[in-house]
Amino acid sequence: MAYLTAPLTIGNLHLKNRLVMPPMATSKAGPDGEITPELLQYYDEKTRGGYFGMVITEHSFVSADGKASANQISSADDDKVSGLSQLSDVIHKNGSPAVLQLNHAGSGTKQSVTGSQPVAPSPVMNPSKAEMELPHELTHREIERIANDFANAALRGKQAGFDGVEIHSCHGYLLDQFLSPLTNRRTDEYGGKIEDRIRIHLQVLKAVRNMVGRDFPVLFRLAVTDYMDGGLSLADSIAAAGLLEAAGTDIIDVSGGMCRYTAPGIEEMHYFTNQAKAIRRVVSIPVVVTGGIKTAKAAEELLQNHDADLVGVGRAVLHDSNWAKNAVKSLSV
Ligand SMILES: Cc1cc2nc3c(=O)[nH]c(=O)nc-3n(C[C@H](O)[C@H](O)[C@H](O)COP(=O)(O)O)c2cc1C
Repeated sequence: MAYLTAPLTIGNLHLKNRLVMPPMATSKAGPDGEITPELLQYYDEKTRGGYFGMVITEHSFVSADGKASANQISSADDDKVSGLSQLSDVIHKNGSPAVLQLNHAGSGTKQSVTGSQPVAPSPVMNPSKAEMELPHELTHREIERIANDFANAALRGKQAGFDGVEIHSCHGYLLDQFLSPLTNRRTDEYGGKIEDRIRIHLQVLKAVRNMVGRDFPVLFRLAVTDYMDGGLSLADSIAAAGLLEAAGTDIIDVSGGMCRYTAPGIEEMHYFTNQAKAIRRVVSIPVVVTGGIKTAKAAEELLQNHDADLVGVGRAVLHDSNWAKNAVKSLSV
């Protein structure tokens, strides 16, 4: 049997293969973040046939001040649970488990989107995007509130029938801003060494676990590099992965930080794979890697090399809704 088509069980999560549909924002939600027919149709098309071992839905905002962009999905209110149930239903009916991604944008947004000044660990401009706004530094009380917002959103995901939640700490958004030395200049217990820069992650995870219980799968999408001078080091990401595992994370999903999900100037495929491999060496929970993987052969080789346990394929699937079907079938003959 090919590595890509081998099943994997992680606690209560039974994956029929190692192929992951990674979160990809569609901007198809309603103005208040509600699930729309267009969005359901998109997920139906992408997940038809159940060829993905796991589908992670696009980032949803856990609170109004953490909304990243217009027409983003909301997990911020109880009235969103019924719409989110429709979303998990579509993916389940097609035959794949569904994981809801949870996000707070921090300074990776604008006042015109959130209605308030963006927030961040420190009042520095976000280097992940052009034309950002100066955020205000979060107080301890606000950090506590945001941890609870993640927890409430996670519970909504569980109530909506999702099989797990993924906490977003990549691509220049709030938790990633705490992770990166470029954006975290705090001198209190949330800044400085890596154990302190991921204090908020552990706080969020604890709050989420209190809400959803130990058996509900919780994934972390963890940045492994900023590909910028003075940015996040791999050693710090490795340490963070170990601490997140020890605190009860079920899966580490590797991607970029301030460089977002690509690696500028690096043309070769698999631009986060070396980092994923390094993390996989120190944790015993499964590791997902996504980034630049375009062919079933490449995904299979990556798994054969034990670089990761699961492979995400994003833009290739965006461009071709039959990509997963063709990939699985090509490896099943
Ligand atoms: C249009 C688009 C939207 C994305 N939205 C999200 C998102 O909501 N959350 C997230 O963690 N990653 C997001 N990503 C990153 C993807 O999950 C993935 O990591 C990235 O596309 C690199 O993988 P690929 O080379 O297979 O496309 C997005 C990527 C694209 C192209």
